[in-house]
Amino acid sequence: MIDLGQKPLIVGEKIILRPFQNGDFPYIEECLKDPEVLKLTGSDAGFNRDTVHQWYDTRNEQTDRLDLAIVDRFQDILVGEVVLNLYEEKSNSMNFRILIGPKGRNRGLGTEATQQIIDYAFKNTNLNQLTLSVYDFNPRAKKVYEKVGFVVESIDENDLEFEGEWVDSINMKLTREIWQK
Ligand SMILES: CC(C)(COP(=O)(O)OP(=O)(O)OC[C@H]1O[C@@H](n2cnc3c(N)ncnc32)[C@H](O)[C@@H]1OP(=O)(O)O)[C@@H](O)C(=O)NCCC(=O)NCCS
Repeated sequence: MIDLGQKPLIVGEKIILRPFQNGDFPYIEECLKDPEVLKLTGSDAGFNRDTVHQWYDTRNEQTDRLDLAIVDRFQDILVGEVVLNLYEEKSNSMNFRILIGPKGRNRGLGTEATQQIIDYAFKNTNLNQLTLSVYDFNPRAKKVYEKVGFVVESIDENDLEFEGEWVDSINMKLTREIWQK
């Protein structure tokens, strides 16, 4: 069992991680529609606006996952999100994912947001490990994950077809043991 019903406010140096709130939708929508985000997360541009709006309206009610907005403290706007989801009882592990839209990238916000949510997860739950997947054509994300301690566990070859090319998916993990070091 995991209980992530309490949604924290995490204040970092460059970012704040906080629960989604009214008024966030245009900002998160801008991130989700960004071509780079769509490509690097393997997502489909044709999402239904109402469904997505409803999705963000209901994130704070979820007890088995944690979805937090990333706010850039300098600009004071929402620039992305971090998510812990897909709890697996057997391995006592969760999946991590992150996306940052065009207004927030390449200024260290992703590194800090990743470090902050990982620290929160290991300090406030008894999870054994976090896992994630990153496409091989996303060296920036892989670099961020390596910086905070994730290591490659396996590779799903030819996992995604993008513009006629097959792309591998790299599965990474961060155990509590490695995090503690
Ligand atoms: C991946 C993502 C979260 C990273 O956040 P960010 O704020 O842009 O990244 P940061 O500025 O914190 O750090 C990027 C690091 O990668 C490095 N980097 C940038 N481009 C790189 C490249 N092509 N190859 C290798 N390293 C690269 C930077 O130098 C930096 O490392 P450093 O701090 O040691 O110099 C963000 O860019 C993002 O959400 N992108 C779009 C969606 C996405 O890729 N999501 C992840 C899917 S798995």
